[in-house]
Amino acid sequence: MSDSCKKVYITTPIYYVNDVAHIGHAYTTIIADMLARYSRLVGYDTFFLTGTDEHGQKIADSATSRGKTPKEYADEVSGKFKQLWDDFDISYDKFIRTTDEEHKIGVQKAFEKMYAKGDIYKGHYEGNYCVSCETFFTEAQLMDGEGCPDCGKPTTVVKEESYFFKLTNYEDKLLELYKNNPEFILPKAKAKEIVNFVSGGLNDLSISRTSFDWGIKLPESMNDDKHVMYVWLDALLNYITGLGYGTDEKNMQYWPAKVQLVGKDILRFHSIFWPAFLMSLDLPLPDHIAAHGWWTRDGEKMSKSKGNVVDPKEVADAYGLDAFRYFMLREVPFGQDGDFSQRALMDRINSDLGNDLGNLLNRIQGMSGKYFDFKVTSKDVAKYHQKELDDVDTLLENAEPLIYNMQINRYLEEIWKVLTIANKAIGDYEPWTMMKNGREEEAMALVALITNIMAKVSLLLDSVMPEKISKIASSLGIEISTENYNKLLKNKELIADTTITKIDALFPRIEEELIATADVQKTESVVEKPRKEAAKQEEKTEEPDNLITIDQFFETTLKIGTIVEAQEVPKSKKLLKLQVDVGEANPRQILAGIKEFYSAESLVGTQACVVANLKPAKLMGMVSEGMLLAAKDENGLHLLRPEASKIAGTKVS
Ligand code: MSP
Repeated sequence: MSDSCKKVYITTPIYYVNDVAHIGHAYTTIIADMLARYSRLVGYDTFFLTGTDEHGQKIADSATSRGKTPKEYADEVSGKFKQLWDDFDISYDKFIRTTDEEHKIGVQKAFEKMYAKGDIYKGHYEGNYCVSCETFFTEAQLMDGEGCPDCGKPTTVVKEESYFFKLTNYEDKLLELYKNNPEFILPKAKAKEIVNFVSGGLNDLSISRTSFDWGIKLPESMNDDKHVMYVWLDALLNYITGLGYGTDEKNMQYWPAKVQLVGKDILRFHSIFWPAFLMSLDLPLPDHIAAHGWWTRDGEKMSKSKGNVVDPKEVADAYGLDAFRYFMLREVPFGQDGDFSQRALMDRINSDLGNDLGNLLNRIQGMSGKYFDFKVTSKDVAKYHQKELDDVDTLLENAEPLIYNMQINRYLEEIWKVLTIANKAIGDYEPWTMMKNGREEEAMALVALITNIMAKVSLLLDSVMPEKISKIASSLGIEISTENYNKLLKNKELIADTTITKIDALFPRIEEELIATADVQKTESVVEKPRKEAAKQEEKTEEPDNLITIDQFFETTLKIGTIVEAQEVPKSKKLLKLQVDVGEANPRQILAGIKEFYSAESLVGTQACVVANLKPAKLMGMVSEGMLLAAKDENGLHLLRPEASKIAGTKVS
């Protein structure tokens, strides 16, 4: 099948409308959006579904407590979810609501089909129900004979007439499914839990309720209007009714889904009930049910009562939507829990985005502008840099399959290795020396190599940071398109001659937390508070008069520099004249008073910590554009150096 005919269908869970969106919801949606954008770029015919889950007792109760009808309440909250995804430029193709008429019709048709198949029968349900999780439990499953084993809240005893789905019919088929498709559940480690659970034996599933009416009625053909459908049957079917199942079925060509994203808490519903329903409907099964972990805040579970729920809009407004997307996708391995802290987000912005990605673009702008009036041609790249090109292509080729395997953080790590190759090549080949020695062709080949690497990386990062990447692409004069994806990544062609446009820094450094942490302080523990107060007290009484604030400290820009050239200064006992690469288009000239302690040759290729924002000064008639940090005692003088080699220009903080 050609790529353009290949269909890719991606889904998120549909969100309950009894809560406002938080970063957990944003996480699932951002991953799905990334997969959908990547699939489209690759040239697959892609459909991306998200939406809201609006029926059930929990929603009905929430509406009543607010003096609203369930529909009024659902309209309001569903509207907020949709607005948030629109603000986040989430590229969904359809936003489904379980109160949509087409969904209702599709669910009733599915019920009829399962009934006709002999998979549904009428009986009596007697057991325990957790309204919060909308889940039935047997006596044996309860915590201390009463509590919900999932959320701990008390369950209620339900005794009512009910329709049942013969889940027991599917036990063996499910076990066969997991065995024959070891990647049906991702990450694979999670599959074990599910296999154990199903092997332990399943019960038939109660799929209708009579004690409340906020739900989809059974089909008329059942002639039984006391019942509404169980909310999970209603909700899971959204994945096919969203494609028109039972109404206008033209989009059913996208079924089966490529990846269905869920949080770990709802994996059981999606890996047991859902495939069983699909088997009953004679529909093919999705390729992957991918379960991600949960986000905590500063190490604690987020909850409304603790007041520590992170509002995704607030984070995106403060730090930038693309930085937030990058952080969520990069910070934790898929499937594991992750902790949201502003510090971790700032580190990612300053280091990965500012230093590695943003600074590389600065260097392309600087070098192409200074040496070649912003014109770049790839003509001689292969002649001088075939090895780097091959290394980059291999890394990127190996990175791409990680996407549908849900190893997105690893995918990003591989791309960052490519950025390191580019940053390192500048330090290794020293285009400034080439220019000085009249080796212009080589310098151009190097600038073009870096531009080509940036172009490839941009194509692969577009799904992660669409807004910033479109800026990088326009600065490079390339287009993010399937055609270019095929040219540069699949066929490994080089970019056509281009003119670089200078743009402002994409990821300015962030020094301070940008979101007030008042709500976190509110929850400060009883131990923590007195400790902090005591510390404050101490600060007042014993504050030495030479203390500076962190802001004052950060007024000094410290960077790691690579010494690329070193010469003795004639007639000076102390001075060495150094050329130090601090990640800019050209190395800086720095005069350092270290001649008594270091020979010029011994310094070349080594690194040191540089004060990079000193006003240039003249020493013995020569300009010095910075200062190296060193420590001197009776054992002599030693430069301060990073413990491991760092990319030239890396900020020290
Ligand atoms: N309505 C059901 C899903 C039905 S799908 C047919 C539901 N809704 S939910 O709004 O409660 O949760 C939606 C998703 O958000 C789930 O995948 C859940 O795992 C995820 N998250 C909720 N809190 C979360 C975190 N703190 N962290 C990460 N994701 C979490 O369940």
